Amino acid sequence: VDPAELTMEALARYDAAVPRYTSYPTAPEWRDVLTEIEIEEALAGVRSPASLYVHVPFCREQCWFCGCNMVVSGNTRAADRYLDALERQIERLPHRPSLLRQHLGGGTPTWLTQPQLVRLYDLLNAAFPRQPGMESSIEIDPDVTSDEVLDQLVAMGVTRISLGVQSFDPKVLHAIGRPQDPDRIGALVERARGHGLRGLNFDLIYGLPHQDDRSMARTLQEVVALRPDRIALYGYAHLPRAKPHQRRIDPAALPSSIERLRQFLSARDQLVRAGYRWIGLDHFALPDDELAQADASGRLHRNFMGYTTRAELEVLGLGVSGISELSGTYLQQHPHLGQWYRAVAAGERGVERACRLGAEDVLRRDVIARWMCRQVLIPSELEAQHGIDFERHFAPELQRLVPLQQAGLVERGTDRIELSAQGRLLVRTVAAVFDHRLGEHERFSAGI
Ligand SMILES: C[S@@+](CC[C@H](N)C(=O)[O-])C[C@H]1O[C@@H](n2cnc3c(N)ncnc32)[C@H](O)[C@@H]1O
Ligand code: SF4
Repeated sequence: VDPAELTMEALARYDAAVPRYTSYPTAPEWRDVLTEIEIEEALAGVRSPASLYVHVPFCREQCWFCGCNMVVSGNTRAADRYLDALERQIERLPHRPSLLRQHLGGGTPTWLTQPQLVRLYDLLNAAFPRQPGMESSIEIDPDVTSDEVLDQLVAMGVTRISLGVQSFDPKVLHAIGRPQDPDRIGALVERARGHGLRGLNFDLIYGLPHQDDRSMARTLQEVVALRPDRIALYGYAHLPRAKPHQRRIDPAALPSSIERLRQFLSARDQLVRAGYRWIGLDHFALPDDELAQADASGRLHRNFMGYTTRAELEVLGLGVSGISELSGTYLQQHPHLGQWYRAVAAGERGVERACRLGAEDVLRRDVIARWMCRQVLIPSELEAQHGIDFERHFAPELQRLVPLQQAGLVERGTDRIELSAQGRLLVRTVAAVFDHRLGEHERFSAGI
């Protein structure tokens, strides 16, 4: 089959609920029960330099579409209590690595008051030695972030900001319960540039209620005019059972999977025409951005925060729901704020789930990361690195790839297996073939 002849329908047939593979094994598979001593040992072994993630769960209001771990709070004392608990957690760490990356995510970290932000950054500065050139980034909701807060962040060493933009279409924003002033976004971009910040990121979403090609095109026109260095273009995940507030979104207004695919494709084409490089699954970056350069030279890496440029860094995750990604162990803290407070108060580590990676997991993590970051597998590389006979080891998986090859999504050359231009849209579906923990029924259930 000529990939160019593949219809939207054929692509959409493969579309279903496959993981986004921000980690492998994926978080629902983390079922190992570790003792406090084992957790202590894992944390004591974090290599320097490391990457630190701190989760700040508070938001001013609940956006209806939100899938993040957050709580609405109008009370700044709630954040004081949270910072007390974080401080306690940091004091009790068996080892504090030096940092090359530090990221504050949420929720909305800039919901904190200025004195609270100062307290948090001072706390982190004092606790973790900094490597020269450390990148310090933060997620920002433009509507709750004043110019003064941005200035303060820069004064405290922030080098990169990520703005939650989602859409510029007022009808779409209304339908997701997110009133937003577009001028705030432009003003923050200008101010950040004035401070010399690089690697500015916008989060955008396709597949939202009332979104269509035209709405998407107009949003991207505004985006391209502001020229962020990076863009994350996420597909809206509608999971009203897990996130009951999403019930406020009218399911009849949601685009079909073919419409979602069309939105993604037209957004991609518009961004590529504007000079952006398509990176991995859902990221775009200007050619002189570090992420685009890492992609061009095959150094792109993926962790639960998204695509990154430093593969070798272990991630230490603090705060409610925070994930640590250490070389052989994943640890996630309690996602429920009350439980997390209780655990910290009791002097425990607050770990809710954990995963110890065996040799097979490490191999498959490598295979899936290669698909997600480079869209190509070179069997001889995997054989050299993992001491396996590729054809024998992955015989069932190679068999399962055959229908995808026949559909023109995967191409097998003499020394490599790669995704075709169309297949790249279904990279998660192809990666899922190599996921030996995913139930057979879930396989091929979707990907765009
Ligand atoms: C923690 S928020 C970003 C910072 C800030 N709270 C804000 O909303 O501006 C992380 C990002 O996750 C994405 N996101 C949240 N819920 C989502 C969903 N249900 N489906 C897809 N992406 C989602 C949004 O693009 C959002 O900007
Ligand atoms: S999208 Fe951002 S601001 Fe809105 S509820 Fe979620 S975390 Fe909070």
